[in-house]
Amino acid sequence: MPTNPATESGDRSHAQPPVESVAQISALLLDTDPTLDPELARVARQAAAEGVVLLRNDGVLPLGAERSVAVFGRVQIDWFAVGYGSGGDVKVPYVWNLLAGLRDAGVQVDGEVADHYAAWTAANRPSYEGTWGQWPHHFPEMPLDADVVASAATRADTAVVVIGRAAGEARESVREPGSFYLTDDERTMLDLVTASFARTVVVIDAGNVMDLSWLDGYGERIGAVLYAWQGGMEGARAVAAVLAGEIAPSGKLTDTIALSYEDYPSAPYFGDPDVNVYAEDVFVGYRYFETFAQDRVQFPFGFGLGYAAFDVTVVEATTDAATSDAAPVRVTVEVRNTDATFSGKETVQAYVAAPDGRLGKPARSLAAFAKTRLLAPGESERLTLEFRLADVASYDDSGVTGHRSAFVLEPGDHGVFVGTDVRSASLALTVPIDDLRVVRQVAEAAAAREPFSRMTLARDASGAAVVAWEDVPLAAVDRRERVLAGLPAEIPMTGDRGITLDDVAGGTATLDDFIAQLTAEELSLLARGDVTMHSPLGAPGNAGVLGGVSESLRAKGVPPITTTDGPSGLRLSAYASLLPSGTALASTWNAPLVRELAALHGQEMLQKGSDVLLSPGMNIHRDPLCGRNFEYFSEDPLVTGRFGAAIVQGVQSVGVSACPKHFAANNQETNRTRNDSRVSERALREIYLRGFELCVAEAEPRTIMTSYNKVNGVWSHYHHDLVTTILRDEWGYTGCVITDWWMEDAVDPDFPALEDNAYRVRAQVDVLMPGGVKTADGPQAYADETILQSLARPDGLTIGELQRGARNVLGLALALAPVLGRRTDA
Ligand code: BGC
Repeated sequence: MPTNPATESGDRSHAQPPVESVAQISALLLDTDPTLDPELARVARQAAAEGVVLLRNDGVLPLGAERSVAVFGRVQIDWFAVGYGSGGDVKVPYVWNLLAGLRDAGVQVDGEVADHYAAWTAANRPSYEGTWGQWPHHFPEMPLDADVVASAATRADTAVVVIGRAAGEARESVREPGSFYLTDDERTMLDLVTASFARTVVVIDAGNVMDLSWLDGYGERIGAVLYAWQGGMEGARAVAAVLAGEIAPSGKLTDTIALSYEDYPSAPYFGDPDVNVYAEDVFVGYRYFETFAQDRVQFPFGFGLGYAAFDVTVVEATTDAATSDAAPVRVTVEVRNTDATFSGKETVQAYVAAPDGRLGKPARSLAAFAKTRLLAPGESERLTLEFRLADVASYDDSGVTGHRSAFVLEPGDHGVFVGTDVRSASLALTVPIDDLRVVRQVAEAAAAREPFSRMTLARDASGAAVVAWEDVPLAAVDRRERVLAGLPAEIPMTGDRGITLDDVAGGTATLDDFIAQLTAEELSLLARGDVTMHSPLGAPGNAGVLGGVSESLRAKGVPPITTTDGPSGLRLSAYASLLPSGTALASTWNAPLVRELAALHGQEMLQKGSDVLLSPGMNIHRDPLCGRNFEYFSEDPLVTGRFGAAIVQGVQSVGVSACPKHFAANNQETNRTRNDSRVSERALREIYLRGFELCVAEAEPRTIMTSYNKVNGVWSHYHHDLVTTILRDEWGYTGCVITDWWMEDAVDPDFPALEDNAYRVRAQVDVLMPGGVKTADGPQAYADETILQSLARPDGLTIGELQRGARNVLGLALALAPVLGRRTDA
């Protein structure tokens, strides 16, 4: 069985100091069993296959069993199953490659070409040398001899050319051949193959969108193009099943593929090491292209072909939204497979076009989507797409509509467009709104602190949309006052009364009774995890442990809670399944399928000893170069929110916890722990926070992870506005918030008596993960004293705040109690 090159890399984790000697209380042994759940593998394969996006097909696909196929490109063997870093670093016992997958699918693969590649790749193994973050974006291609190709064309009638790319954590995709662009060798390969073969299929195995402008140069010589994404251990086999026609392709793009990198509105700003100005504002992805630059799109958002052809008819489109905010817009469509031969699934999408007003609006915003079951030729299905106009309301962060800090619908016709991609969606319904409506009034939070110009919409004399610029509204709220107004009351401390957490679980004591017993030191221990990754308190290879990190806490029944990465599989010393990446999963547009896979993944967590999965990755694909795009879902917040929710629901359905990350605006890897994401409050609320908001509302994650970067000058792990004002007070989130791994030192500018961990706890970022100090020499295996020091200072942290954080951590422990209890019993 092919192995996974991605897991052969030397550095499997962050540099680690030696583990402190704490009693090992985990009953789990190092799991050396490579057996995986076959049902999980089956569903993972189905999801990987449904995530494959067929961008072009002149009839060359499916290959079928009768055609002979010559496969070119070393990636057929050295397949990229996942991206790099914590999100892909799984000890997976097997990974299919495409060559093996095609043979498994019964495709007649040309043996001579295959042997040639097998021999060459065996002699030229991919190199993963280097440290964390230096992984290869591509593998140098096998030099291809024109005679080899010409002779293959006498034996096989179809060529498949495979091109592969990877990026990852601390490893952006770059504007160079071998990353965003083709290499000369890859061009030569395409030239030779398309010169000899009448039928050529291109497979892109990549985590990020890469440049595809070269496709046009080859014109009809390339008959079919599949964007395969990175589908995990079963991914290549899934792609093979799609190529062979065993599984019908039904994936749709969750990002726009533009004609060139420079066309993306983030391009002038992305990658700055210090400051990342989100000047394009809400005009991210298709919201920009459909409004201002339709002609710069090669493949639109939402696009993807099947082997079947579908007729989509709007049967009914109704709403009372003109008179009532709460009224849903309902569009019922009939989807009919008009093909005589092929079965398939189709995804129908509804977009809203909000009218021009005082706020610049994108020409389209996705409001709902639904996917059919597998439809046989001639079969049809009715789908109902439902949403509220309020869900796509605009946020007024300047007061230009007269309603500052409110979500509003401006007067005018709201068009509802329905179709199978953003470009071809057509008008199904118009909802007139007579007067401006405030659909939700909130409080200003996390607004920009440094001036910059942001994009907005204007109209030229002909009425065409043109880019205009305006000053970003700046923060006006007094943070010190806001924080002081929200300080919690202290629960009078009682000292130890013998109440255990089990008593709370059993209903014989309240959580507050339990918390009242905890000393300041115990409270401060709940506010940080065990001091290292790979904590001896959890399953070997864990990312960190929180909760019962001391003897005294464990004696009171607080269990150690084990976290593991996420998202594409469990990162442990034990063998685990490697799942399709986030983009691949979202490209299925099949949330129930992803929920089913996540539930099976939750079962694997139970088996391997993971309580909190550091997943889903929910940052927006703002720019195609972001190294971690493979972990994330889409440029669109609805897609992001729905798939984030599907994963959380699936994982948590078996009793463990998911942990959506990275909250928020972690959209580039370059200098990620120091970079400042400067972004308007409007763009935050409509784009970058929206997916998290949906996920919290629909799936109630028990844990959320902050991001490394700053948001408008404040590191997310200190961001009171983000975590307290928005996440907790506005959205009603009651779970536990943890940091991304370690944090940056800082003193609270409004409360100088609070530094580092005290500053963090005040923001209600409950737990530092792991709990050790980060110094210039890297993470250390000891904790700082900043919480206890601050408690002793005038105007310092209060016991009430520590107790509030403890409540969030203990709430997680109580929610996980059935799972943790089973483990202790075992
Ligand atoms: C990543 C997180 C990950 C954590 C633990 C960090 O570097 O940003 O996504 O969960 O490490 O491995």
